[in-house]
Amino acid sequence: KKIVILISGSGTNLQAMIEACENKMINGQIMAVISNQANAYGLERAKIAHIPTALFERKHYPNNLAMDLAIGDFIADLEADLIVLAGYMKILTAEFTQRFAGKILNIHPSLLPKFRGLNTYQQALEAGETEHGTTVHFVNEQVDGGAVILQAKVPIFPDDSIEDIQQRVKTQELQIYPLVVKWFVDDRLKEIDGKAYLDGQLL
Ligand code: GRF
Repeated sequence: KKIVILISGSGTNLQAMIEACENKMINGQIMAVISNQANAYGLERAKIAHIPTALFERKHYPNNLAMDLAIGDFIADLEADLIVLAGYMKILTAEFTQRFAGKILNIHPSLLPKFRGLNTYQQALEAGETEHGTTVHFVNEQVDGGAVILQAKVPIFPDDSIEDIQQRVKTQELQIYPLVVKWFVDDRLKEIDGKAYLDGQLL
């Protein structure tokens, strides 16, 4: 299966995917890593792994729709089976998410439906939560609103800083996201009518 990965930043989730493909846990090939940020360290990770990279910067397009059309055409040319969002910090247009419906995965650092959007660690701390976590989900036109596939929970301890929680969550992300990609690549995971199914079972 052909995979493309979209990033904006450090790319630790990308790195986990690269390694999972290299060691054949994921039976797929990363065709390209796409970034909307020129300085994303994930681009270096891709280069080190000899994976082609592509940069799409918003300033080169008149609007979001034109940018997403260009990214979409690039992905379509690669005949990608799966689009993995791994810290891609720009909201995709509905035109894009509908064009690739059922083929886009994202990981969001909260126990969705709690804490959509940005700064989830701070949101959880301020809400006095005793646990936090991360969610892999299908992507639709609602931001962080697509069908949930898999979540991992971590505790929040009384003296935790944002960084403490973030690190605990990240450790979980690097475990669960490659697993979900493996399921998709092995044709075990589907989105039907906005719901996620694993081996035909509703998740
Ligand atoms: C992850 O924590 C993910 O949940 C969020 O963005 C972060 C990306 O981190 N969507 P990295 O670039 O994979 O290190």
